Amino acid sequence: MLSREMNELLTRVGPGTRMGDLFRRYWLPAVLSEEISEPDGPPVRVRLLGEDLVAFRDSAGQVGLLDAHCPHRRAPMFFARNEECGLRCVYHGWKFDVGGNCVDLPSEPPDSVFRAKVNIAAYPTWEGGGVVWAFLGPRAELPPLPAYEWLRAPDSHRRVSKTLENANYLQALEGGIDTTHSSFVHNNDLGDSGRLKSRNTHPRLDVEPTRYGFRYAGIRSLGQDRTYVRAYQFFMPAMQMRAAFLDGSGEPRETPTLRGHIWVPIDDQWTMVYNWVCSATADTPISDKMWERHEKAAGRGEDDFIPGTYRLKRNLSNDFLIDREMQRARTYTGIVGLNTQDFAVQEGMGPVCDRSQEHLGTSDKAIIAARRMLREALDDVADGRRPLGTDTEELRLVRPAEAILEGSLPWQEAMKDLLMAQW
Ligand code: FES
Ligand SMILES: [Fe+2]
Repeated sequence: MLSREMNELLTRVGPGTRMGDLFRRYWLPAVLSEEISEPDGPPVRVRLLGEDLVAFRDSAGQVGLLDAHCPHRRAPMFFARNEECGLRCVYHGWKFDVGGNCVDLPSEPPDSVFRAKVNIAAYPTWEGGGVVWAFLGPRAELPPLPAYEWLRAPDSHRRVSKTLENANYLQALEGGIDTTHSSFVHNNDLGDSGRLKSRNTHPRLDVEPTRYGFRYAGIRSLGQDRTYVRAYQFFMPAMQMRAAFLDGSGEPRETPTLRGHIWVPIDDQWTMVYNWVCSATADTPISDKMWERHEKAAGRGEDDFIPGTYRLKRNLSNDFLIDREMQRARTYTGIVGLNTQDFAVQEGMGPVCDRSQEHLGTSDKAIIAARRMLREALDDVADGRRPLGTDTEELRLVRPAEAILEGSLPWQEAMKDLLMAQW
C-alpha cells in the first residue's frame, strides 16, 4: 500500500512534476521508425510525458521531434508541409529544421533579422531497433545512447510493435513485472494441469538490485529437487526483459527468444506499450510467420486494432469482449489475447490506480522493489545526482533467462552464462 501522496508522486509525469523530471533523464521511445519511414513523408502526432509533439523525417532522412504548435501563432505543425529539409507551417509559411531552427520566414520582409530570434522547441532523437528514441530532459544531462542487447540484433532477428493502453504507466509496469499473475490470468487451458506455471502457482521471488535497475527471479519448485526459474531484468525507469526459452510444458522452444515491454508515459492516464521480440541466438531469425503468430497470441493481430490506431478493438468500453462461457469452460479470464488480458485487469483499475487501498503479499516483492527504486531515483534527481541506470555500461551485458534446474546450486550460479548478452 502507498499513501495517497506517494501514489501521486509516483504516477504524475507531466512537465514540472518530479516523476516527469525523472523520466526526462532517460532516452524514451517516441515513435516506431516505420511510422515515419519516408523522407518528406507526413508528420505524425506524438504525445510524450504530457507534451504534444510532432515527429517527421526530413529530405535527408534525419528525424525531428518538434513542438506540436508553431511558435508564430500556435498553428498545428501536424498540418505542416514536410519539404526541403524542414517542416513548414501552413498558416504563414514559417519553416523549421530538425534542430528547431527557423530556416525560412517568408511572411516578414527579406531584410528582417527576426528569423534569428525564432525557434521551435526540438528534442534530440536517435534511431535504433526500429524505434525512434527521444530525450526530453536538460541537454547537460544527456545520457549515453540506449545500449540494450536487443538493439544490437539484426533486423532479421528482431521485431517491435506498440499498443495504446488507457492506464498510468506504473500500472502497466507493475503488471509486467508481476510474474505470479501468469499462473492465473494467462491460463488459457484450464484442463492442462501439466503446464509449468500451473504446477506451482506461488513462486518464491528473489530480487537483486543492479546498476541499471534490478534482476529478479520467480522460482517455482517442481518437486524432486527440480525448480523452474524465470529470471527477468528490469531497467530503470520502465523497461522489462523476459526470456521465452521453454514452451508451456518445459520443452526447449524451436526459436528461443528474449521479449520485453517498455511502458512509455503518454500522460498520467495513457501509456504507449512498446513490445519487442529478439531471437536469443544468431541461428534462429524471427520469421514473419512466427512474429504474426506471436502478435496474434498477444491479442495484437492485424485485425485486433481499431484501424488507423494503436488501440485494441477489445477494450474497456466493451469489457474486452469477455466470453463468460469460455471463462466457465476453457480459460481463466474468458478474454482473448495474452496482453489483452493484462489490459483488462490494468485498465479496469481505473486510469490511475488508488494504491492506498491495496494489500500487498509476498508475490509482490518485485513491485515493491520497483516502487522503492523509482522513489530513490526521484531523490537522486532532486539532490542533483544522476539517477540509476543513466551512466552504466552494465546494461549492455545482461539478458533474461529461464531454465529448469536440478540440484541445489543457486540460480545466479547455475544460470550465469544464460544471463549474459550474446548479441
Ligand atoms: S502560425 Fe505558423 S507560420 Fe504563422
Ligand atoms: Fe501478463
